[in-house]
Amino acid sequence: MFDPKEYWERCFAGLDDGTYDVSIIGPADACIAYCDRFLGHGSKILDLGCGACNNAQYMAQRGFDVYGIDFSHKAIDFCRRRFNALTLSGDFRTGSLDAIPFPHSFFDSVVSLAVMDHVTLATAAATCREIKRVLTTTGTVLFTFAPFPVDNKIIDEAEVLPDGTMKFIYGVQKGMLFRQYSDSEIRYLLQGFTIAEFTHTDHGTRIIIARP
Ligand SMILES: C[S@@+](CC[C@H](N)C(=O)[O-])C[C@H]1O[C@@H](n2cnc3c(N)ncnc32)[C@H](O)[C@@H]1O
Repeated sequence: MFDPKEYWERCFAGLDDGTYDVSIIGPADACIAYCDRFLGHGSKILDLGCGACNNAQYMAQRGFDVYGIDFSHKAIDFCRRRFNALTLSGDFRTGSLDAIPFPHSFFDSVVSLAVMDHVTLATAAATCREIKRVLTTTGTVLFTFAPFPVDNKIIDEAEVLPDGTMKFIYGVQKGMLFRQYSDSEIRYLLQGFTIAEFTHTDHGTRIIIARP
């Protein structure tokens, strides 16, 4: 009844590839800066939790070799239709963050934008192991994490799971998971990586670039 996947399917249900305007919705500034500074021409990139492909589209248009995974069938259908309509090349698959359907050392880069905020701690830890597995030894990963802490109004709409993750039980976000990480929790989560950069935007979003 409060399945997080159903929440995301509801979010993506109304997407129309004919009217969706990627120039308004995205890409994220962090993604643009990361592409400029960390990726070589033709890099093979996995957009993990790609949603409506606002970042994947940008990266494909820049000439990168783009793959996307999301557990929302509606999101993945939309990404495929959108890439077809724009005659862009991309490989989009439904799948879970913590079981990436690609072999070891397959990607030069993984980007996971606004995704780790929406899973439990156990899934986040398993996802980090999977990212490490699919990256080449010289690869990089870009994460964003929501600002910390958020206001109490949000907490009022959610129940807190034993690991501290919030699960929304009221309102339009019913079913959504939301986990707040302190900076030290993020560093602990990413202990299997070498952190190359850890910065905060003016709004408090944490942007992390790490190497396996
Ligand atoms: C806030 S959206 C971010 C989408 C996209 N990265 C962006 O920046 O626009 C979070 C995405 O994570 C996906 N997601 C959440 N939990 C997931 C899981 N366990 N496995 C796969 N995808 C998941 C959702 O379907 C959704 O597309």
